[in-house]
Amino acid sequence: MSNTKQTFQPNVEFQKTARIKSMDEYYALTKKAEDDYEGFWGDYAKEKITWKKPFDTVLNESNAPFYSWFEGGKLNVSEQCIDRHLDTRGSKTAILFEGDNGNKLEISYKDLHTNVNKFANLLKNFYGVKKGDRVVIYMPMIPEAAYAMLACARLGAIHSIVFGGFSAEALKDRIIDAQAKVVITADGAFRKGKAYMLKPVVDDALSSETPVEKVCVIQRNNEEVTWKEGRDYSYNEMINSESAICEAETMDSEDPLFLLYTSGSTGSPKGVQHNTAGYILWAQMTMEWVFDVKEDDVFWCTADVGWITGHTYIVYGPLAMGATTVMFEGVPTYPDAGRAWQMVEKHKITQFYTAPTAIRVLHKMGENEPSKYDLSSLKVLGTVGEPIDPPAWKWYYEEVGNSNCAIVDTYWQTETGGHIVSPLPGATPIKPACATFPLPGIIGEILDPETGKKVANGESGYMCITKPWPSMIRGVWGDPERFKKSYFGDVKKDGKPVYFTGDGANYDEDGYITITGRTDDVINVSGHRMGTAEVEAALAKDDNVAEVAVCGRPHDIKGESIFAYITLKTPCEDEAAKIKELNNIIKKEIGNIALCDNIVFVPGLPKTRSGKIMRRILRSIAKGEAITQDTSTLEDPTVVQQIEAIVKS
Ligand code: PRX
Repeated sequence: MSNTKQTFQPNVEFQKTARIKSMDEYYALTKKAEDDYEGFWGDYAKEKITWKKPFDTVLNESNAPFYSWFEGGKLNVSEQCIDRHLDTRGSKTAILFEGDNGNKLEISYKDLHTNVNKFANLLKNFYGVKKGDRVVIYMPMIPEAAYAMLACARLGAIHSIVFGGFSAEALKDRIIDAQAKVVITADGAFRKGKAYMLKPVVDDALSSETPVEKVCVIQRNNEEVTWKEGRDYSYNEMINSESAICEAETMDSEDPLFLLYTSGSTGSPKGVQHNTAGYILWAQMTMEWVFDVKEDDVFWCTADVGWITGHTYIVYGPLAMGATTVMFEGVPTYPDAGRAWQMVEKHKITQFYTAPTAIRVLHKMGENEPSKYDLSSLKVLGTVGEPIDPPAWKWYYEEVGNSNCAIVDTYWQTETGGHIVSPLPGATPIKPACATFPLPGIIGEILDPETGKKVANGESGYMCITKPWPSMIRGVWGDPERFKKSYFGDVKKDGKPVYFTGDGANYDEDGYITITGRTDDVINVSGHRMGTAEVEAALAKDDNVAEVAVCGRPHDIKGESIFAYITLKTPCEDEAAKIKELNNIIKKEIGNIALCDNIVFVPGLPKTRSGKIMRRILRSIAKGEAITQDTSTLEDPTVVQQIEAIVKS
């Protein structure tokens, strides 16, 4: 059920100029897509993409679930994002960068063209990067991160960005899996008024096992770093001797554009692969439909480029449509909880897009801060990454949006490339904490996992997409079987496997969709996806850990926190010290983002007689809920009471 029946109508003034102005227009578009799916997508692909050669077919389903879109078409994403704007908006700001210290840098489309071309030439001429090579980007939030992405796209190289919060071990695993030949990094950057470092993490990650030949280092904070001769080279010293013209590689619609590693319920992170044409089409269209960005708007997405939100809604989507995108090096609570609102005022930001965790922090730290700034430029507010709770939603709507702005609760995932379920700001009557309806062209349905039938209003089930769509994941890098099993294994509709998101959802009495969260062993900490298996594997590296099970626990700010149950081989004297030690292992293996808020030492784990850990019981205990599951089938039912007593103590 939606948490409240209150409905908020779109702002009438906004509606007048919106691209999709009413629910009637929305229904007309969804009907068009249902009646002529290929015609719908084919028309948009022709209209929105500047093709070097037009495509022959819209959708090829012959090798399902390895679908292909716009076969025969040729294009280059860096041209779609830059070159085609030069005549009409060459002097327009493409990237508006604000440093941690408040300094502002405006990079026009012309400048972006120069910077990306030079970077592409550097990568091609000195680093030997060519079409199909993998390049790992481990960068802070500085414009060079966007240049690096677009330079790879220009050469047809496949970038794989690793979020700067991941540890050396996590970085190394991703470099090895992608078999990357070059790493692009920075000495570090600035956060909360201080310099922090990234290059030392790269140094630790690179070893004889990694195939990396050369490292490109952007000098941002100019702190001292170690330079390995013959491997590490300074971008700053070399970039100016490169030519500002680099011909863009001609790419097929289905050539890979990038990999982005994300967590699943089992095993190591998966290299989610996105390809060229379908991804860029949907990145651009969702910018136009969901944020309704206009020519003079200033769009700010607060994500990090290391996550899919940063890929699609800081770099590719805004630039493909020729918008001005804001990039911010710092954190929205420094020097105080008014920083984000000060930036909105200063840059006259029109669309602001962030995560519920950030909204909760900004609310908690500065309930009245928004009223101190002129936020009248704002038109659309967005949220993404986790379910937003109604109190956070209300504060966002009333205090930040002055009850004037639509809130688009955008539901999507790394694998979907762009939004799949979201309100349209000029059309959809919104309900708090509700992602509302699938976007036109996305056949999103909540299915009963047993019968594969769409559930009725008022009921819940699994959030699925029952037809392929252009920006969908194309594969798990190097593991086609895992791709099929992870996404097309669980739910069948009319006997045919359909894409299952891993999320549970429900329709309310009006057919509005609310996403209720993961149905698998994935935890969502501050909008970051964590596989329990990864955290468990890290903790199991401790010599004294016999068994470990990890689950999520509701958290006021982070949405969920990580809760670990551990049995030790030999009891330890100093539990606090052991907990510290175990979290240090996580820091080393994964990074600070996976630290456990709770680690409890228990005499055993609740297991069935066949040895399967009953995680649902552990989740209930972590949440402090009564155990409703049948425990009589457990190998040792008494262990449940023992664990409950330990957790309560
Ligand atoms: O559980 C859903 C949650 O975030 C997951 C996707 O995580 P990731 O691939 O890291 O991408 C995050 C940014 C798109 C989903 O499976 N999620 C994302 N958006 C929402 C959400 N849960 C509820 N409401 C949302 N708006």
